[in-house]
Amino acid sequence: MWLLQIVAQASKRARSVEYAIRDVMIKAEELKRTGKNILYLNIGDPVKYDFDTPPHIKHAIQKAIDGGLNYYSPSEGLKELREAIAEKERTVNGARVDPSNVIVTTGISEAILFLMGAIVNPGDEVLMPGPCYPPYLTYAGFFDGKAVTYRTIEDRGWAPDLADLERKITKRTKLIVIINPNNPTGSVYSRAEIIKILELAAKHDIPVAADEIYDRIIYDENFTSVASLAKDVPLIGLNGFSKAYLMTGWRLGYLYLQDHEGRLAEVWDGIQRLSRVRLCASTPVQVAAVEALRGPQDHIREMVAKLKRRRDFSLERIREIPGLTAAKPNGAFYLFPRISAIGGAWESDEQFVTELLNETGVLVVHGSGFDPSFGKDHFRAVFLPDESMLEEAFTAIGDFMKRHT
Ligand SMILES: Cc1ncc(COP(=O)(O)O)c(C=O)c1O
Repeated sequence: MWLLQIVAQASKRARSVEYAIRDVMIKAEELKRTGKNILYLNIGDPVKYDFDTPPHIKHAIQKAIDGGLNYYSPSEGLKELREAIAEKERTVNGARVDPSNVIVTTGISEAILFLMGAIVNPGDEVLMPGPCYPPYLTYAGFFDGKAVTYRTIEDRGWAPDLADLERKITKRTKLIVIINPNNPTGSVYSRAEIIKILELAAKHDIPVAADEIYDRIIYDENFTSVASLAKDVPLIGLNGFSKAYLMTGWRLGYLYLQDHEGRLAEVWDGIQRLSRVRLCASTPVQVAAVEALRGPQDHIREMVAKLKRRRDFSLERIREIPGLTAAKPNGAFYLFPRISAIGGAWESDEQFVTELLNETGVLVVHGSGFDPSFGKDHFRAVFLPDESMLEEAFTAIGDFMKRHT
């Protein structure tokens, strides 16, 4: 008799996939099982802290479900939602977008997958900020392309290094990605910086993608949407409901196309094809998203005011700790401090994060997970928790630094 022992190997592609923000959770959960108290500063999810989805949006989803709106929607999304999205992008961000050029996705995460899947051929390069939100790096590589990061300058609030960006443009560059405000640095690009990136894109005939998921979470500077400035450059905008509308777990986002000359028509067709294979985003969530965009917006102002206090508090506490320095984030809800003792007390930012977790229970994300070159020697911490938890975490980080440096 044959005894079959089939051991299937994961594909090379799957084995290459990493996501630092959640990968660090595995170690934390192991430690938690031993009884250790974990202070989670790793995930950018306000709803895990003392922020909640506004009641009118919750009522809207309940009403949708009770009213029987539980079927598949069209793949590109419900008509009413695409209209509301186009209206929001036109009025708030100055985009010139029509509802027919909007595709609703299961979060921006899925939109990044569609975008990279539709634009990257093997060997193609995608230019993106370093450090940046990891799925851009991951998906560019997943489709056998290459993520190339342009430097952002820490001493200038992580502003884009335009000379570095231009140097890295090659014949294989298929797309320039702007993430504004940026995750993990909280950098908000100035109007002049965006104009210069667009000029480079126009000069080298490269389309731009702009992720503006934090467009409503801005503290000191003015926010300018890339769409309002992109006149000659074909643009794909990405945005969603997770942050401004506190709908992280509901999973809803979108892509829109601003491209008057039809230069991205084939790519957009590719995105539409990809959207059809996965049927659609959740229908009741889409109904609630119409209410999110059209209903009261007061919670945004309250959330930003609360976050601004926490940002100021966290920045002050981090800057008091010898061995750590941090630029001031002007948007989103992350701090990205530099650890001066990498190469001394710790070999790498990853080792720092593991030891910090093991000794103190404070969970942050290693900076190299956001880009091995421009993110290394840093860590990312969210300033979403209330002041008492932040105080506890920064005291633990301060004591840890004292013990080791
Ligand atoms: C820049 C950026 N884009 C996209 C996402 C993912 O958004 P979504 O919840 O819509 O998938 C995040 C989440 O942290 C992010 O920081």
